[in-house]
Amino acid sequence: MKILLTGGTGYIGSHTAVELIERGYDIEILDNLFNSKITVLDDIEKITGVKPVFHKADLLDIPAMDEIFRNGGFDLVIHFAGLKAVGESVEKPLKYYENNVGGTINLLKCMKKYGVDRIIFSSSATVYGDQGVAELTEEMQTGVGITNPYGETKHVIEEILKDVAEADEKFEATILRYFNPVGAHKSGLIGEDPNDIPNNLMPIIMKVSTGEIKELSVYGNDYDTPDGTGMRDYIHVVDLAKGHVAAIEKMKPGISIYNLGTGKATSVLEMVTAFEKASGTKLPYKVVGRRAGDLAKIFANPKKAREELEWVTELTIEDAMNDTINYLKCFAEKK
Ligand code: NAD
Ligand code: WQD
Repeated sequence: MKILLTGGTGYIGSHTAVELIERGYDIEILDNLFNSKITVLDDIEKITGVKPVFHKADLLDIPAMDEIFRNGGFDLVIHFAGLKAVGESVEKPLKYYENNVGGTINLLKCMKKYGVDRIIFSSSATVYGDQGVAELTEEMQTGVGITNPYGETKHVIEEILKDVAEADEKFEATILRYFNPVGAHKSGLIGEDPNDIPNNLMPIIMKVSTGEIKELSVYGNDYDTPDGTGMRDYIHVVDLAKGHVAAIEKMKPGISIYNLGTGKATSVLEMVTAFEKASGTKLPYKVVGRRAGDLAKIFANPKKAREELEWVTELTIEDAMNDTINYLKCFAEKK
């Protein structure tokens, strides 16, 4: 089976590339390198012994996309490519709708033109909005109470995929709703590139540990949680990558939706403590006010993925912290 990974040099895409190659899949990667580096391909080769065919292309570049598909012979697309900085999406909504929604429409048109019927899409727990409960299941209504354009793009793309599946009985789409990916490959060669500056907790912890950021701002300690800080479902990126392999093996016509999370919520302060324990150093932090739009606690109900995909997470927060510290060490040595 030949698989095209859009956004395959990015954080989650590169880890999935490794898992796919290790299971013998033939993959190609398409990325515009907006938020990743070409050297990731060498790192994938160091881990797996295989350097994937790479297309430097933008989803918005229709002639380039057409050429890749014309010569591709793909059986399946795993669609990671997208912009993901929540704060930036509030300032530049059109950039996010154009890139994420527009890019996906171009991709789906190319797939149709060249007879590629199967897609796995990187969605997000953000599509659930505020359900008023912490544990999230796939059948809940989505799209209500999403607080930023980034999250809206994920919801809109899910709806587009449902409509395409309605119109074409051969179409197979698996929507994977990721919770909070953390960690790195155990080799230390690939991970979340610390050059990127999103607003997510783990990359900020990484930057505080290297001294690039003075201290972590903990956004509120007055939530209704045991230590008062926000709680999320942090999933090791290698477990997440393996979720894609499981999804490929169980694809079926129509739309299938799965949460990829651990089923367990961890607080901000528990994450700080876990990092300190793994690194043997103190992580400076101060408690500040709540961040607008944040929820107190959310976590995945992963039962559907366990039962239908026969996939469960195996790695812990401690593994994620150890692998992140190893990745930071390797990253510093490379420089
Ligand atoms: P990433 O930024 O590391 O990877 C995304 C890749 O897509 C990058 O390499 C970027 O250069 C590429 N890209 C973006 N727009 C493109 C375009 N128009 N054409 C070609 N390439 C393009 O992000 P990631 O963390 O690996 O996330 C992968 C996917 O998972 C994204 O769709 C993201 O929204 C989704 N997701 C991520 C998280 C998270 O916390 N990391 C959580 C839920 C969902
Ligand atoms: C986690 C916890 C913060 C930073 C976002 C996106 C969502 C999805 C995942 C892609 C919260 C706290 C954070 C900091 C802090 N991405 N925190 N200080 O909020 O679950 O979701 O990333 O789809 O769409 O919205 O993740 O990592 O930003 O925050 O105290 O400097 O850490 O308040 O409790 P979140 P996060």
